Amino acid sequence: MLLNRKRKTNTLHFYQTLTAVLLIGLWGCNAKHSEVNTNASNDVTAAGEAYLADKGVDSSLWLPVNSVVKRDPNVERQVAKLMADMTLAQKVAQMIQPEIRDITPEDMRKYGFGSFLNGGGAFPNNNKHSTPEDWIALAEAMYQASIDDSMDGSTIPTMWGTDAVHGHNNVIGATLFPHNIGLGAANNPALITEIARVTATEVMVTGIDWVFAPTVATVRDDRWGRTYEGYSEDPDIVKAYASAIVEGLQGTPGDDFLGDNRVISTVKHFVGDGGTQEGDDQGNNVSSESDLYNIHAQGYVSGLAAGSQSVMASFNSWKGDKIHGNKYLLTDVLKRRMGFDGFVVGDWNGHGQVVNCSNESCPQAINAGLDIFMVPTDAWEPLYFNTIEQVKKGIIPMARIDDAVKRILRVKVRAGLFEKPSPKNRPFSGRTELIGHSEHREVAKRAVRESLVLLKNNDDILPLSRNQRILVTGDAADNIGKQSGGWTITWQGTNNVNSEFPGGTSIFDGIRSKVGTTNVELSVDGSYQEKPDVAIVVFGEEPYAEGQGDIAHIDYQGVNGKDEQLLKSLQAQGIPVVSVFITGRPLWVNPEINASNAFVVAWLPGSEGDAVSDLLFKDDNGKSVYDFTGRLSFSWPKDPSQTLLNRGDKYYDPLFAYGYGLDYLHSSSNIPMLSETLQRQATDSDSYPIYQGGVKAPYEMSLFSGQKRVSVKASSLSLAGLSFRTIDRFVQEDGFRIDTQEGEWSGVRFLLSNSEHPSILALNSQYQLKMDVRLLNASAQAIRMNLGCDQAGANCLQSLDLKTQLKDDKEWQTLAVDMGCIDFARFRQQPIAIELASESKVSAMFHNIRLEKSETDSSSADCNG
Ligand code: BGC
Ligand code: BGC
Repeated sequence: MLLNRKRKTNTLHFYQTLTAVLLIGLWGCNAKHSEVNTNASNDVTAAGEAYLADKGVDSSLWLPVNSVVKRDPNVERQVAKLMADMTLAQKVAQMIQPEIRDITPEDMRKYGFGSFLNGGGAFPNNNKHSTPEDWIALAEAMYQASIDDSMDGSTIPTMWGTDAVHGHNNVIGATLFPHNIGLGAANNPALITEIARVTATEVMVTGIDWVFAPTVATVRDDRWGRTYEGYSEDPDIVKAYASAIVEGLQGTPGDDFLGDNRVISTVKHFVGDGGTQEGDDQGNNVSSESDLYNIHAQGYVSGLAAGSQSVMASFNSWKGDKIHGNKYLLTDVLKRRMGFDGFVVGDWNGHGQVVNCSNESCPQAINAGLDIFMVPTDAWEPLYFNTIEQVKKGIIPMARIDDAVKRILRVKVRAGLFEKPSPKNRPFSGRTELIGHSEHREVAKRAVRESLVLLKNNDDILPLSRNQRILVTGDAADNIGKQSGGWTITWQGTNNVNSEFPGGTSIFDGIRSKVGTTNVELSVDGSYQEKPDVAIVVFGEEPYAEGQGDIAHIDYQGVNGKDEQLLKSLQAQGIPVVSVFITGRPLWVNPEINASNAFVVAWLPGSEGDAVSDLLFKDDNGKSVYDFTGRLSFSWPKDPSQTLLNRGDKYYDPLFAYGYGLDYLHSSSNIPMLSETLQRQATDSDSYPIYQGGVKAPYEMSLFSGQKRVSVKASSLSLAGLSFRTIDRFVQEDGFRIDTQEGEWSGVRFLLSNSEHPSILALNSQYQLKMDVRLLNASAQAIRMNLGCDQAGANCLQSLDLKTQLKDDKEWQTLAVDMGCIDFARFRQQPIAIELASESKVSAMFHNIRLEKSETDSSSADCNG
């Protein structure tokens, strides 16, 4: 039996090596590890084989991984010694990871959490402009509280996890690298290691120990809002990169492993996140087990071989089962078969999505193999107490808790957390000159240059001569926030302005520095003072993250999109056009390509926009200094229906295939006019979102209290006695909560100032304003909805009393107000305002505010309020 297994494994090893050799030939990538473990160490023993067979693990598919980080008896002894003295409460605290918006150092002192995180857009003191010193101060305070045993009896250091997913992206001034989709096009694992090393350094400057990267999703359906977080649609690059990045972040044994400028890495999200049906974020992956392994798990094969110490469980389901509760995948496959001996951290209240679980209680997840609950919001407290109770009652076996804590402590010991000085005293801590250091930016610039893909260059219009009049236009030309995408300072990457990227550059900055100020003109809308010889148009997707980036179709801007019009108007004036497309995924842009002489895909280049221009111009000798080396790691669609389009498909018919990319070295033929005659998606006019996982353009959201106003551009905010915070109802930040005080009228306001917007047409009797509401401590009496115009001084708000419709019962309920009962015609030309307001003490939650075609008007609020 044992012999048999070995033979099989060896044969597979041979084929894997062969594939690796082929890969080197094809892509020049460097398959360093022999990932497959022939002398099964770690948890896989002969007895384990019988266990695995019993659990139905296909051992010819899932192979043991040979991690470079070996079990060290000294480490194991130290862990055992620590655990011998720990109470149940201390052990459970190791497994709870709250978020910085929900705990104070005092909570840390009291409970001794094993770790904590800051989510995207969460900053020390809730201050977006926190300095590196502020980050260190919080790291230090949490650390000191964790080793203070005065309340919890524990001296185990905590650790801080952060999403440094394209550089240390929550920190103002950090070097921001291209998002992973661009790095995939660069196809250069050595560069990836360098990027990871730089990222680790900048993270260590702020005293943080651990990053939630790399994402090793193999992305199959580009409607997925996280497409740009993946390197490729194909497992080859994902596999080559996962080990490269883990080595850069953590170092390797013998070479600064988890040393002073290294951080713990996390391969995420295990497993199948990039393969959900319709690209639905957190949705269902129905792949066969062999696709799950061969397509979706390859980043784990190499990332774990390189020694990644943590794995994040994914939000998605596999064949209908949420991974957070899937014992087969988390325990039998990942830990037992692959032999992973670090810890599995959950994703953002992901445990709450397991059947029969809530954010506050989920023994199923621990029993399935989850070691750390990522539990933002105030759910951490009930979760902690419930978990302790569940162990006492035998619902969670003590052995499972011990296994989880052993894994957590093993990683802490390996990372030297018991020996390293406290965060503020570590060698890199406070060396703020390293944040955004010019050498780091050079690495990022190189990555930008290597990531650009040239799709079209008719009549060799590129590279451009610098001695001509250049118009730079498009709304991404001078917009560092837009070129950086999601996970940039804020979670969604929205609400950032250029001054919040000190040291960073826009694409326009680079062009201006190449051609000089007199030859270049910048205008967002394409107007100009003097007719240009050529226009560089920089345009593309607005930033988004996670499910908020999910789209229904991949037609870029719909019929007569605004950028298509801009390009066509330049074309009609006889101005040659070079398009630079900012995007998190391939999109159907045939009309935009047709209206361009050259078309460059820049993906989401990050803070070093100036490097884009390095590829666009000739030098004084008429030669290009840099050439395009980026090649598509995602297939480009020919048709907006090609949402599932991947190398190796049976009927593969892309516009530009995987691996495509033009350059200056090779001559290329002109791209002919592409078909634009496809049935293009009409906008859905049955429903207009106002607040859905954030305020929806063109609405603007603000808080008001009496005459004071502040626009909502953060996940928590207060104004006078009023406070606002986003909440997670079904998924992250899909709703918000407001707390008002007795006194002046205060609340939230949604403003629509674009009187051309089609949703204006919905302000009539066929539509209802709908929202889900949950009253926490108020009577419905206390809330009013004001609808009408927003003209200063004009008395045109109509007020509705909500008491006839809302119940006081603290449950979620749907409110629907007929738009027919408001006389909008009176102020058609004015900005339209929708307000939720109170002049007494109210706590209420809101979710999914929208205008919707009504089915019936019977349940709507009293018009005469
Ligand atoms: C939080 C972010 C977090 C994200 C995780 C949001 O609700 O505000 O901080 O990173 O969820 O998905
Ligand atoms: C995301 C993770 C991230 C976590 C913490 C989650 O919503 O899925 O990728 O690491 O939030 O911000």
